[in-house]
Amino acid sequence: TEISSFIDAMPKLDLHVHIEGTLSPELRFSLASKNHIPLPYSTASALRASYSNLYASLDRDGSNALPVFLSHYYAGMDVLRTEADFYALAASFFRTCADAHVRYVEPFFDIQAHTRRGVPAAAVLEGLLRAKEDAARDLDVRSNFILCFLREEPAVDAMAAYDVCAPYAQRLFVGVGIDSDERGNPPVKFDDLFRRARADGLKVTAHCDVNQPNGHAHIAQAVSEVGGGGLDRIDHGVNAGERPELIEAIRKRGLGMTICPQAYSIAKEERWGQWVRTLVDAGVKVTIGSDDPAYMHGMRTADNMALAAEACGLSREEVVILVRNAIEICWASLEVKKELE
Ligand code: HPA
Ligand code: ZN
Repeated sequence: TEISSFIDAMPKLDLHVHIEGTLSPELRFSLASKNHIPLPYSTASALRASYSNLYASLDRDGSNALPVFLSHYYAGMDVLRTEADFYALAASFFRTCADAHVRYVEPFFDIQAHTRRGVPAAAVLEGLLRAKEDAARDLDVRSNFILCFLREEPAVDAMAAYDVCAPYAQRLFVGVGIDSDERGNPPVKFDDLFRRARADGLKVTAHCDVNQPNGHAHIAQAVSEVGGGGLDRIDHGVNAGERPELIEAIRKRGLGMTICPQAYSIAKEERWGQWVRTLVDAGVKVTIGSDDPAYMHGMRTADNMALAAEACGLSREEVVILVRNAIEICWASLEVKKELE
């Protein structure tokens, strides 16, 4: 359509994308061969074809979408073992950014998802850092990573992982977040970590996934309770759009929200479009991300923006506002922000 060619051509940002969620079936296949890891498919194209069935075991109401997604996400990343593997993962993502006019990204990385299966933290950190620096120099794609903690793991483990990664703060990552299994793992569980990261000069954010038990309470914690007065951003949090008091609190604090339409569509949540429309109309700084394109039907940043434009009835001018919001709420240096303007 006309709006999607407009979106494809425009310079973009993506502030919600998990680097492990960008692992293409082709790269997964080649890393499996290199690392002698057996896969149940004998060709890359057979592996790719299997991805069209990832959500076959979804409940009719979509309520198990997050655990089903996570099972594929963690299975896929098993092929990532060495510094070179993490370099290849990120380098290939940055190349897709360059090709699609995505100029600046803030990818999450899940350090514990690698260290808990025996991968040295240095392999992850060094590989991502080298890819980040090469992409800035060779592709003019700028980035800052966000160190993300697995919320189902104990808070003390997150703190230990934070200590390991801290020497890479600012050079590799500028913020911390929480992701993975939200059930029974509210933002308050990580309050000490958020406070510490903030005291160290880092930004703080949390996933508040769609259709989670106590979802509204988790959003309220993220907006105004944890980290000493609330976090700096909300990842997802779309169902705030059905609670006027949450909308008002988010708007008052000027918090950005990173919205990932394809994820809500997989979770069979039909109301996200009207919620996002409400948030945009209330003046909340909404921006669009791709979350985990490899496990979400290959939907890139632009595809997610086109979904939002359609579901929320956004004009071209409003699509431009979403990108301007991203420039405003992103955690790039002032120098990089000026270049993005
Ligand atoms: N939600 C929660 N955890 C995640 C996601 C997500 O969309 N992607 C990767 N880890
Ligand atoms: Zn996410």
